[in-house]
Amino acid sequence: MSEKKRNIMPEPFRIRMVEPIHLPSPEQREEALKRGNYNMFGMRSEDIYIDLLTDSGTGAMSKYQWGALMRGDEAYAGATSFSLLKETVKDVLGFDYTIPTHQGRAAENVTFSALMKQGDVVPFNQPFDTTRGHLFRLGVEPVDCLIEEAYDPETIIPFKGNVDIARLRDVIEKYGRERIPMIMVTITNNSGGGQPVSLQNLRDVSAVAKEYGIPLFLDAARMAENAYFIKTREEACANMTMAEILRACMDCADGITVSAKKDPLVNIGGLVCCRTEETYIKILPNVIMFEGFATYGGLAGRDLEALALGLREMLDEEYMAHRIAQVRYLGEMLEDAGVPFMKPTGGHAIFIDAKGFFPHIPQGKYPADVLTVEMYREGAVRGIGLGALAFETKDEQTGETTYPKLELSRLAINRRSYTNSHMEYIADTVAEVYKRRESVDYGLEVVEAPGAKGLRHFLAKMRPVKL
Ligand code: F0G
Repeated sequence: MSEKKRNIMPEPFRIRMVEPIHLPSPEQREEALKRGNYNMFGMRSEDIYIDLLTDSGTGAMSKYQWGALMRGDEAYAGATSFSLLKETVKDVLGFDYTIPTHQGRAAENVTFSALMKQGDVVPFNQPFDTTRGHLFRLGVEPVDCLIEEAYDPETIIPFKGNVDIARLRDVIEKYGRERIPMIMVTITNNSGGGQPVSLQNLRDVSAVAKEYGIPLFLDAARMAENAYFIKTREEACANMTMAEILRACMDCADGITVSAKKDPLVNIGGLVCCRTEETYIKILPNVIMFEGFATYGGLAGRDLEALALGLREMLDEEYMAHRIAQVRYLGEMLEDAGVPFMKPTGGHAIFIDAKGFFPHIPQGKYPADVLTVEMYREGAVRGIGLGALAFETKDEQTGETTYPKLELSRLAINRRSYTNSHMEYIADTVAEVYKRRESVDYGLEVVEAPGAKGLRHFLAKMRPVKL
């Protein structure tokens, strides 16, 4: 056994129900690529061998969560399942007010449309793409205040998701407190590589927020992974439990929006939590209009039960140690193969640096998406591009395109679903593409892209074009 193999952690679970997966032939893959218009969102799940499109809602629930489904109280109002969820949130996260929603973006919708107005500005470390989409829809501008080091894939620092505090202050001074309904911090920072934010940084942001009287909200989809990174990387927190660290992070915030499909280990669900009745009451009408009554928010009672358990299971340190080690193992194998990716490895995914992988493909020909096509072609592995296709902007007056600094292809690891041997298969697939990278002599162009600003990559039909 190699040194590296000894360092990986065996899965801290055994598998009691299996979902067969199947490797399509090279010919079937070509057909599938055409049918999917060279966009991974256009592909059929049955054509995928290892599906790393997202870690959202794709994890395996525990036998306890499956058991809990039977306890769901489906009462329209005041269900016991809601009381359980609310008590769990209070106990684990410390918030008095809990609103369930059907998923994370719904939590954003009901919160943002209640608390923001056109012309507002929201400083972030970095928003996720649907979050950005919701802000755009309301005419609100997100302003990235991520630390500069985060934009260099090779720079290894422990908390690459941190907010640049000086920049945050500048942004507040520039736009003025009145235009800033909240500051938001995404933990971990999905768009920037699944990188964590330190507890110290959250405390610093919270201090600035208080100084200016601006509420601080967290986008807390991956709050448990973030807590684990704090435990293992932030010296002052080494002796705290993950649960204590998570609470300390939450204590910095006035509210959170959560996609429960990530760390809270359910296939569907979201949360808005806040501290004051005033905020809660402002958000409620939107919940009732768009989600459902305040005590179920678009979910079934059984979903609330599974979510309440997931909020505790995500803090199992053995599970989380395995999860982070599994992603790191994949990273180590890619490193051995020379593949450039965002370092250090993040929590939920590997983010391959597509500019470094395909330096000969201009960003306007979407190298991150070309790489997803090639990984599928090679081994029926599905990732997604998070680069120019998703984030480029066009100046309406000059027609000039601004490209994002990072051009990444993401391989998101589903929770409790794939084994370490799947990681080896994924690494081999990517390494094979890397070996033949110079022979990839095409880029992609958008044939058709319906959809609102910021959402084009979900629906775009693409075609290969010669370089
Ligand atoms: N915030 C973050 C940081 C996210 O990563 C996501 C979703 C959302 C909000 C929206 O939550 O999907 O439940 O509505 N991210 C998924 C992904 C889709 O693939 O990274 P949702």
